[in-house]
Amino acid sequence: MRLEGKVAIVTGAGRGLGKGIALKLAKEGAKVVVSDVMEENAREAVKEIQEAGGQALAVVSNVADLSDVNRLYEETLAAYHKLDIVVNNAGINRDAMLHKMTVEQWDQVIAVNLTGVFYMTQAAAKIMREQESGSIINISSASWLGNIGQANYAASKAGVVGLTKTASRELAKKGVTCNAICPGFIETDMTRGVPEKVWDIMVSKIPMGRAGKPEDVANMIVFLASDEARYITGEVINVGGGMIL
Ligand code: NAI
Repeated sequence: MRLEGKVAIVTGAGRGLGKGIALKLAKEGAKVVVSDVMEENAREAVKEIQEAGGQALAVVSNVADLSDVNRLYEETLAAYHKLDIVVNNAGINRDAMLHKMTVEQWDQVIAVNLTGVFYMTQAAAKIMREQESGSIINISSASWLGNIGQANYAASKAGVVGLTKTASRELAKKGVTCNAICPGFIETDMTRGVPEKVWDIMVSKIPMGRAGKPEDVANMIVFLASDEARYITGEVINVGGGMIL
């Protein structure tokens, strides 16, 4: 129970990686606010946590909407009275080759993956500066280094790295850490949508010979959110079975 007594918000926690992270944080003793745009999925994740003996609350919130984000923090503080961990996991992809990408595809991905992380991180920073403690963990991606068909996604995830490093420098004196995790290729609803041929190509690029599981990423998050990681900030940590070196 490495997170006993801590309060966490996980965005995009209704399914996939976010759900895996929420379940793991709760298993380690954190009270978890499961936030997502998909209400039914958020409620189902909360039910699973509660059935396993953990504490959780579902809050429907769109990270790309500032008033939703403000309400998410208000409901969290009203329920649990403090905030120790924020995991900015919500993300989308709208892939297309650069010469075919629409402005709408560009704007949608930047709004959720980058502006959403800005809204969430800014609100967390205000609370955590006052408390003089807290961990912010942003989910970037191996794609931040550039990936064919993902100009919008790669730009958003590279933006998350810059935002994370800046936040880490600004918040360090206040005892607040901010780190980014770059998952490689993880088995979730997002990746299950790719054609079998693409799946095989992706897995062939992973030295460990398999796609990652949400728990593989969640284990790193538990560490970064724990007191053991109090001197680690501004880092970009790959969790990819050797895919990104
Ligand atoms: P997913 O599509 O399975 O789950 C994403 C969740 O975010 C969904 O529950 C969705 O409803 C929620 N969401 C979407 N837009 C939202 C919004 N505006 N506000 C709040 N919630 C919203 O995706 P997956 O694979 O679990 O990805 C999670 C994160 O990990 C994303 O940021 C993704 O970019 C990142 N990632 C995933 C990798 C993978 O291989 N699956 C690899 C690298 C990064």
